[in-house]
Amino acid sequence: MSPHIRPKRQVSGCVNGTRHDVDVNASDFHGPLPDLEVVCRIVVTWYMIPVLARRPLEPWRPSPHGHLLWPDRIQIVLIPGHSGSERNQSSRFGSYFLTQWSLPSSIDGTPVRTDRAIDYQRDTDHAHSLGDRLASNMSSSALLRTGIVPDARSRPVNGEGTYITLADGRRVIDASATPLALGHRHPRILEAVGQALRTSPTLDEGFSTSLRESTAEELLRTVFAGEDWVGGVRFALTGSEANDMALSLAQALTGRSGFVTRERAYHGMVGLARDITVQPQWHGGLSSRSGGVRPVPRSSPVRVLPFPQGRFGDGLALSRDQAEDALADGEALLADSAAVIIDYTQGGCYPAPAYQDVLARKARSTHTLWIADEVVTGFGKCGRWLNFQRGEERPDIVTLGKSMGGGVAPAAAVVLSKDMIELIGDSNWANYSSMRSSDLAAAAAREFVRVIAEEDYVRRADALHDSIEAGMRTLAATHPSVSRVDGRGLHWWIEVGDSDWRQWRGDGRDVSVATQVAAAVLDAGAMVATTGEANVVLVTLPMIIEDRELDAVLSALDHGLALADRIVPEGAPSRSRTGAVT
Ligand SMILES: Cc1ncc(COP(=O)(O)O)c(C=O)c1O
Repeated sequence: MSPHIRPKRQVSGCVNGTRHDVDVNASDFHGPLPDLEVVCRIVVTWYMIPVLARRPLEPWRPSPHGHLLWPDRIQIVLIPGHSGSERNQSSRFGSYFLTQWSLPSSIDGTPVRTDRAIDYQRDTDHAHSLGDRLASNMSSSALLRTGIVPDARSRPVNGEGTYITLADGRRVIDASATPLALGHRHPRILEAVGQALRTSPTLDEGFSTSLRESTAEELLRTVFAGEDWVGGVRFALTGSEANDMALSLAQALTGRSGFVTRERAYHGMVGLARDITVQPQWHGGLSSRSGGVRPVPRSSPVRVLPFPQGRFGDGLALSRDQAEDALADGEALLADSAAVIIDYTQGGCYPAPAYQDVLARKARSTHTLWIADEVVTGFGKCGRWLNFQRGEERPDIVTLGKSMGGGVAPAAAVVLSKDMIELIGDSNWANYSSMRSSDLAAAAAREFVRVIAEEDYVRRADALHDSIEAGMRTLAATHPSVSRVDGRGLHWWIEVGDSDWRQWRGDGRDVSVATQVAAAVLDAGAMVATTGEANVVLVTLPMIIEDRELDAVLSALDHGLALADRIVPEGAPSRSRTGAVT
């Protein structure tokens, strides 16, 4: 038995309108109890019983995982994999928790009563109690969790290539990791980092080491090949930090304090990167479980540009005229701002070269610097070494991160154009941190770039786009809940239902539909991510993925979206609106 399980817990449930407080004794359970999350799911299942009782029950299926006896004489059977049964349908907390559980039609020959109808949905006290229980289980360790991991039970214990092994022994395909391009524990990255570990001294950023120098050179030579406007690199630890460094440099160079971004943008959770993150749920402060948020006040004014969003794959399709239309107020919004920053995935807003080029020209006319946030898209996962290369214009500053450490070390970078370096002139860019630019990170990054170049993975990511797009089109056509899909290369965004992302601030007790879908996809063998938006599932695949693994991910998504079809209203195209000053 896991040391996390307390021998006795009291749970409350409502059956037939009567509240029951039940002592659950762990010794009442037969079969494996992997950890606390399993107990949590049993509790949830208990609460769902009244909902289940309103539906016809399927016959009992014996389970190799054994069965569990509830003290109230209700038997709950753990079924490995996904049952996909009708009774796993809608409820406030969704069917996710039921996909692994089912009720027997009888206990010891006695049918389970199905006449105990109870209006579960109206029993808010009951519902809140469930939410609280989930929350307390989520925070039952010393680690302060972020709450964006879809499923605590899915704790990964091992990663190898494209696969993750979960604590319960299942091996699933990892389609969730933006910091991964070469999968988990790529042998060449491990070897390069191991070598640095064995030989490199620990030195702060003030020192120059040959590994740091050569990594910077190779980065420019390979990733920025043909981009002769690029001047130099400074390393960072995270994408957030790189963006904060770039934005603060823009303030110093222009003498202006404000910034411009596009709607639905995410650029990180540190300093100015947090300021410029405008997704309503990522305010950097507190989202209360009883409703309401306490955001962190911005330190700089931020203006928001509109970004047109349609129903399928509109990023690249956006024409010059549409971009001009969307950015009609561009000059006014850009005026007097230090920089405009755009990335190429967040909010499901993909490359849009026309948008980028129109914006870049307007920025130049208002003397606003342009920062291309390539933290997610850099290094080829979207089919180009860098996404700005899809357009004609070139940025003043580029930020990199995430996969840059080869999935092994924290590594990020700020890359400056020659013009920026000229503007800095003989000044010292006084921005420093002791732990960044370590030899470990440099070794990982240099090997990462070499592997991608030698294995031609950028071309592979671009080639995979077509088959993934075809798969996504099929999913969108098959599942009425899907309201929007966009993506490029190995990075895809699926929205379900008709809820408006502008209204979602991550507060309240509901378990989001995205979390439920991600959990159902996991049950079917693939791990996908959620983004913090309530109705968005993020699919991001490693460059090493094989065709059959891609098929498996698409089929797991099919399973997860079938759940979405049952629990959300039919999707409607997302709306776009004009920019606002926040
Ligand atoms: C576009 C973009 N920029 C920056 C960041 C921040 O990177 P990090 O999480 O490494 O701080 C993210 C993170 O998701 C991102 O998506």
